[in-house]
Amino acid sequence: MLRRLHPEQPESFAFTDANMAWAQEQIKKYPDGRQASAVIPLLWRAQEQEGWLSKPALESVADMLDMAYIRVLEVATFYFMFQLKPVGSVAHIQICGTTSCMLLGSEDLIAVCKKEINEQPYLPSEDGKLSWEEVECLGACTNAPMAQIGKDYYEDLTEDNLRDLLAGFARGEVPKPGPQNGRFAAEPLGGPTSLKTLSGEAENGSVALATAFGDTVKRIDGSEGPIWTAPVPVGQQKNTLEPAVKKPAPKKAKSPAKDEKPPSDEEKPDLLSAPRGGQPDDLKKIKGVGPKLEKELNVAGVFHFDQIAGWSVAEVTWADQHLVSFKGRVSRDNWVGQAKELQSKTEKQTHTEEKKP
Ligand code: FES
Repeated sequence: MLRRLHPEQPESFAFTDANMAWAQEQIKKYPDGRQASAVIPLLWRAQEQEGWLSKPALESVADMLDMAYIRVLEVATFYFMFQLKPVGSVAHIQICGTTSCMLLGSEDLIAVCKKEINEQPYLPSEDGKLSWEEVECLGACTNAPMAQIGKDYYEDLTEDNLRDLLAGFARGEVPKPGPQNGRFAAEPLGGPTSLKTLSGEAENGSVALATAFGDTVKRIDGSEGPIWTAPVPVGQQKNTLEPAVKKPAPKKAKSPAKDEKPPSDEEKPDLLSAPRGGQPDDLKKIKGVGPKLEKELNVAGVFHFDQIAGWSVAEVTWADQHLVSFKGRVSRDNWVGQAKELQSKTEKQTHTEEKKP
């Protein structure tokens, strides 16, 4: 299936302050130079905030992670959990249509969605509140047929209980997720054969947490507060803002050897106050330089390939330490070699153009 950006896009995107603070914390989980690893959590948060992923949202996440826009688009178009067009303003119903669910009635559930929501998947209901799609196996085959709605699973569905769920969402309620036929979890329909004491509880752990959070289909603006941190077992919630398990402090970057001096300002390369002729080179052509790093370089006074191509070893060391947010990038990605190549290509091109009659 083709997954493309929606033809109508908003002007801009911005994380709420609280979501931005959350995003910055996610980015810190990854070592220097590996911030792109936070792309999925950040895209997911943007979707939780807005309901779907717009082009400005993808670009904003790319800028935050210093990634090329195309890389973020690749991620967003690859994973079906990301919605690239507006969906129902309250809930998007994802019906599993794979083998177990299909054998146990998912086609009937889809028929309900077509009737109650819209004949076509992804298109919203008349009131704009609901939309639906068929998805591949969601890994809850023992509780087939099932659907993911928002971030929770609704299992053991029938046409009737799905109709009730849809009506509940449309009224602004958040029906209890999990099995809808009275099952505790995924035990045999005839009753549990083991773990019998657990099934005496009112709800299984997942349903209890989902019910306590009550955020199944909520737009997440960050004001939800501590519920968005790692869950802490009941009775140990001294400060829910603290992670449940304290991680050991990250190892500090290797300090320079004793006789290794930090680069002094004498080793600073020549920097410019403005691009020559008012025309900077496209530094994003250097692998590893995205829009954010390019801006950072321009602010520092680097605009041209030949500036970087001419850096000495000492100047590279200085640039590694002073010029870019992710230290060590200049040498690791061989900016000098790359810049030399780009410079030579540019010169050849100019030469060819000059020779043209
Ligand atoms: S087949 Fe539907 S969840 Fe696996």
